[in-house]
Amino acid sequence: MKDDANAIGGLAHQDTAHDSAIKHVTGRADYTDDLAAPSNLAHAYLGLSQCAHGRITGMDFADTLASPGVLGVLTADDIPGVNDVSPNGKNDDPIFADGLVQFWGQPIFAVIAETRDQARRAAHNARIDYDPLPHALDPIAARDAGMGYVTDPLTLRRGDAPTAMARAPRRIEGRFVIGGQDHFYLEGQIAMALPGEDEDVVVNVSTQHPSEVQHMVAHVLKVPSHSVVVNVRRMGGGFGGKETQMNLFACVAALAAKRWNRAVKIRPDRDDDMIATGKRHDFVVDYAVGFDDDGRIRAVEGDWYARCGFSADLSGPVTDRALFHADNAYFYPDVRVSSHPMKTNTVSNTAFRGFGGPQGVIVAERMIEEIAYALGLDPLEVRRRNLYENGQLTPYHQEVNDQILPRILDELEASSDYKARRQAVLDWNAEGGVIRKGIALTPVKFGISFTATWFNQAGALVHIYSDGSVMLNHGGTEMGQGLNTKVAQVVAEAFQCDIKRIKITRTTTEKVPNTSATAASSGTDLNGMAALDAAEQIKARLVEFVAERWQVPPDAVTFVPGHIRAGDHQIPFTEVIKAAYMARIHLSAAGFYKTPKIHWDRATGKGRPFYYYAYGAAVSEVTVDTLTGEYVIDRADVLHDVGRSLNPAIDKGQVEGAFVQGTGWLTTEELWWDAGGRLRTHAPSTYKVPLASDRPRIFNVKLTDWSEAAERTIKRSKAVGEPPFMLGISVFEAINMAVASVADYREPARLDAPATPERVLMAIERLRG
Ligand code: MTE
Ligand code: MOS
Repeated sequence: MKDDANAIGGLAHQDTAHDSAIKHVTGRADYTDDLAAPSNLAHAYLGLSQCAHGRITGMDFADTLASPGVLGVLTADDIPGVNDVSPNGKNDDPIFADGLVQFWGQPIFAVIAETRDQARRAAHNARIDYDPLPHALDPIAARDAGMGYVTDPLTLRRGDAPTAMARAPRRIEGRFVIGGQDHFYLEGQIAMALPGEDEDVVVNVSTQHPSEVQHMVAHVLKVPSHSVVVNVRRMGGGFGGKETQMNLFACVAALAAKRWNRAVKIRPDRDDDMIATGKRHDFVVDYAVGFDDDGRIRAVEGDWYARCGFSADLSGPVTDRALFHADNAYFYPDVRVSSHPMKTNTVSNTAFRGFGGPQGVIVAERMIEEIAYALGLDPLEVRRRNLYENGQLTPYHQEVNDQILPRILDELEASSDYKARRQAVLDWNAEGGVIRKGIALTPVKFGISFTATWFNQAGALVHIYSDGSVMLNHGGTEMGQGLNTKVAQVVAEAFQCDIKRIKITRTTTEKVPNTSATAASSGTDLNGMAALDAAEQIKARLVEFVAERWQVPPDAVTFVPGHIRAGDHQIPFTEVIKAAYMARIHLSAAGFYKTPKIHWDRATGKGRPFYYYAYGAAVSEVTVDTLTGEYVIDRADVLHDVGRSLNPAIDKGQVEGAFVQGTGWLTTEELWWDAGGRLRTHAPSTYKVPLASDRPRIFNVKLTDWSEAAERTIKRSKAVGEPPFMLGISVFEAINMAVASVADYREPARLDAPATPERVLMAIERLRG
């Protein structure tokens, strides 16, 4: 392999294609279900509860065991270690319900059979009897029933909110119901376990968190972590839904593999996947905002009640993050916000892009809209008047010092022609027709780092083989977001070699230990730095070697495209590597990184949980049919900050995807449980994700090409995975405006989310009185 010094591709900050782009679109990318299966592969299928809350009084597996191809059944009694996959040590997440079921769809047993179809059919032949107990499904019903919290609540406080509220010239209060969201990853949950000798087991699983799967399988099988290997080449989407939810599937596959000493695969149907796995938390938020006649906020108080489901899972950090983003981009002089992580008889909710943040941000935007309508101002003006200034403190006492939203708002307002278009919308609506329009410009400020400080660490492993090819491994997982490509670009840049020289290998617990979930948008920030650390170690050894061999001082040795320069000599990279190998230079290194400067004390509600903030804004225009409640997004313009982008093409893809997914959350994606607690929206037939035909008719997405992370992030780039999700709020507020126009904007539309066509129609009816 030879590098052409004039055409080195895939360095940092270039528009390099996703390393699997061609494989994705031609069907040649290997997902877990595509791995070559051993000849003795058996299949597992879950049996799910048909009762929202009740005691199990009997389990009859006679017909199941007599069904064709069945090898056996696993229940809570068949677990050698602990019957628990909770990610937080609370021991409240059984693999199989043991005597008590706490939601409709809870796994009770698994059937193992020769084929997947046999296992699936046999699972339906079991008879489970229940003694039903009272159930509560939503957070307010749960509060009224005294269900309690699944985890400790949090209050953030600065100043004296009640007094400031009482003294504020104006005050508005309200309740906002915010729906949840199913991840709808294209590739569902899946795991395939292969038994090894002694206690060993290898699990291939679609996961964002291989280390956690490793630890879960180990404690369920009661073996040390060194006996368990977890691999993932890529996921067909995770979106937070594979941060903890795959634990159960991996453990069932591993249990069965060890019990029958056969390879075992488990892959639920889409319906069962949707019923049995956690989703975005829905919230009921009671808020109050005090403000002055200029629309400046004086005080905010709020209570966030979350539907957490039957166990804690990640509900603690998710509901914390809702509070961390309850201010979005705005300074609240006096503030008190509290979380109420309610236990409910529903599936245990989990991480989903934004991790609770969106459910905080949208309440801030609701309050801004309320103020604007009360004062007859353009909401954009109210937004501007309340933006943070550098030096001001957030409700968690972190100082904001990298504020760039004023410039983003100015540029986006100009490039989208916001003023003239808003006037045109107002003029159009003034005609009083059936078709109404709305336009809204909303900002986002998103804190980057895991709020559990110890998760902010990463490792990487880099080998250079004697032929000059490079193997790169790191603790992050690839789910389509382009992490592997961006980390490889960092390494290509370090060695000044073409990215084709670098092989990105599957994530495996055998190569990098004790990794964090690829989550909180921090995959590139953490793993990019760890990979750079590894590359720098090898570079330092090469510099020393080259200086000695070519008799130049070390500072005369530099890496240039495809070559290493030593004074006047320019030696091809591959030649240096060959010579270094012959000279017995160590060409492998393990890198490590931990985020500096962050700390968080939950007990006092004070600290610096975030290393920095990512910013962005969007302006969306919609058309609403007031006879049917249907709407279309006519145009969306986005200006988003990713610092100095490592890969503008991939980052723009993330911004577009996040915008559309955020819009889906707030428009058509509605979860609906019946009175018995059964999820009735469990397939694309009843749960509507955005389609290509729902995209904005005009969609202008731009990155702020002038911004740079103020902190020393990887090449001054910023995280991109989650922040733009909240840009979808501009669509929601535009729909609100169109609806409010039917009553001449005398009051806000106060739509609950998602703003389905039914809700839009009901809001129009209500406003028309
Ligand atoms: N993009 C794609 N294509 N698929 C995904 O599953 N997950 C999102 C985001 N973008 C996701 C995605 C979520 S929830 C997170 S936290 C980040 O990617 C995780 O990856 P990163 O840290 O490398 O950005
Ligand atoms: Mo993303 S919700 O942090 O996996």
